[in-house]
Amino acid sequence: MKNTVRFVLDGKIVEVDFTKHTELKPTTTVLSYLRAFPEHKGVKEGCAEGDCGACTVVVTEIDNDEKLIYKTLDSCLVFLPMIHGKQLITVENLAIKEKGKTILHPVQQYMVETNGSQCGYCTPGIIMSLFGLYKNHNNPSREIIEDTLTGNLCRCTGYQPIIEAAQKSCTNNGFDHFSINEKKIITLLKKITSNKETLIFNNKKQKYFKPFTLQEALRLRKENHNAVIINGSTDIALRQTKKKELLPQIIDISGVEELKNFKEENNNYYFGAGLTMEQVRKYCNRKLPALKKILSVFGSLQVRNIATIGGNVGSASPIGDSLPVLFAYKAKIKLCSETSERTIGIEDFIKGYRQTDIKNDELITEVIIPKSDDDYFINSYKVSKRKDMDISTVSGAFRLKLDDETVSEIILAFGGMSAVTKRAINTEKLFTGKKWTRENVESAMKILAEEFSPLSDARSEAEFRKTAAKNLLMKFYLETKVN
Ligand SMILES: Cc1cc2nc3c(=O)[nH]c(=O)nc-3n(C[C@H](O)[C@H](O)[C@H](O)COP(=O)(O)OP(=O)(O)OC[C@H]3O[C@@H](n4cnc5c(N)ncnc54)[C@H](O)[C@@H]3O)c2cc1C
Ligand code: FES
Ligand code: FES
Repeated sequence: MKNTVRFVLDGKIVEVDFTKHTELKPTTTVLSYLRAFPEHKGVKEGCAEGDCGACTVVVTEIDNDEKLIYKTLDSCLVFLPMIHGKQLITVENLAIKEKGKTILHPVQQYMVETNGSQCGYCTPGIIMSLFGLYKNHNNPSREIIEDTLTGNLCRCTGYQPIIEAAQKSCTNNGFDHFSINEKKIITLLKKITSNKETLIFNNKKQKYFKPFTLQEALRLRKENHNAVIINGSTDIALRQTKKKELLPQIIDISGVEELKNFKEENNNYYFGAGLTMEQVRKYCNRKLPALKKILSVFGSLQVRNIATIGGNVGSASPIGDSLPVLFAYKAKIKLCSETSERTIGIEDFIKGYRQTDIKNDELITEVIIPKSDDDYFINSYKVSKRKDMDISTVSGAFRLKLDDETVSEIILAFGGMSAVTKRAINTEKLFTGKKWTRENVESAMKILAEEFSPLSDARSEAEFRKTAAKNLLMKFYLETKVN
């Protein structure tokens, strides 16, 4: 079974052996796999890059309390081995037949009743997002419904009827056959996940490893220096789907449980590198409000359900949303190899445009955030063309400590202003020992504009970026000023 992906679909275990199914490769996406079957063509390809949600499916896995958790994700971003040991649910699985009659799931029934569909292209994806909402929330607020739908584009219906369908179906507790079958599904999933032997898929063009323990992942990393590491694959999958690259060697660490822990200990918060952005957002809650705030405008729920904090840091993108705020929190990155471990400050970890300090036998295992005293102000901001589901044009995260209205510590970290996430060091220096006044902030804004030479690109002109950065500083001042 070492070379077979196994998951549950249509209530049964499905086995994909790539040596037999030569039409498939290990990096075949779940979307392409499903589209090959007449009975699962409801799932649609719109963009193939995680933006439109037409390919949304729900995946279930067993949580620590032995219950099933239901997560929506974009099947165009997920390679088949990533759903090993999980249940895959598509739109075709929602309705059931009883005595020759089709009984729609409540989310489908209310979409019909509220006229929530016109051309129908987006509808299967929207139904799956509503199904995810149904399984996770009873009587959800408007905010939660809107957040659920940010990853689903509909160009003809307008969202009001869809929101109404969400409100009605998630409050009226209609018949949901998934609850009845959970025990059976858990038994099937356990059959698959009880085997922790590393999966190895090897065809002439691709080698794909899927370890389940950190020790194995580190061993594979040491032996396969050139392999691409993937966790959520929300960055890496696009190299295949958009740039048409063939990824010859992959180590998929999405099944490594040790990377999915969160703990609060010794004045630090420890986030396992494999925690998804949605899990991080939940753990932050009131503890790390500036991180929570930025994650609330990070991609869509479908993206946050797979994208990881380790992947965001590992990408070292100049517009990676977690980076400025991790600078402001003075986060540290823990790196492990088979024989060593070290912890390094986030600023030293980011070395250049999409370059990090990671060695070719290491993995990021934790992001550590020290607790800050209550007398620090820390806030984060994202400027993008749209509030939701957009990449930052400019982002900023700031940390401030005042001692009798005088600045005793300040960090001004920006994304989108240079090839890397960068602190405005000269502007920070200007504040040393100065009063936190509007006049001083206005002087600092001039230095700030000179300190960066941002790019002009499709998202914005350089001048806009400079103005936005200055205005973010003023916004922070207005939110933190003493009188
Ligand atoms: C539709 C869409 C919307 C997006 N929106 C946003 C957004 O709003 N803000 C934002 O910042 N990003 C966004 N992204 C980018 C992406 O989702 C994030 O960068 C995400 O955090 C990457 O995590 P991942 O687990 O998917 O990374 P992967 O794609 O699996 O990996 C990314 C990189 O990190 C490395 N890596 C991953 N884990 C480790 C590890 N443990 N050790 C060492 N190296 C590792 C990989 O080798 C790779 O180089 C978006 C992407 C898509 C497709
Ligand atoms: S096809 Fe558009 S999100 Fe997957
Ligand atoms: S119903 Fe046509 S795109 Fe949504």
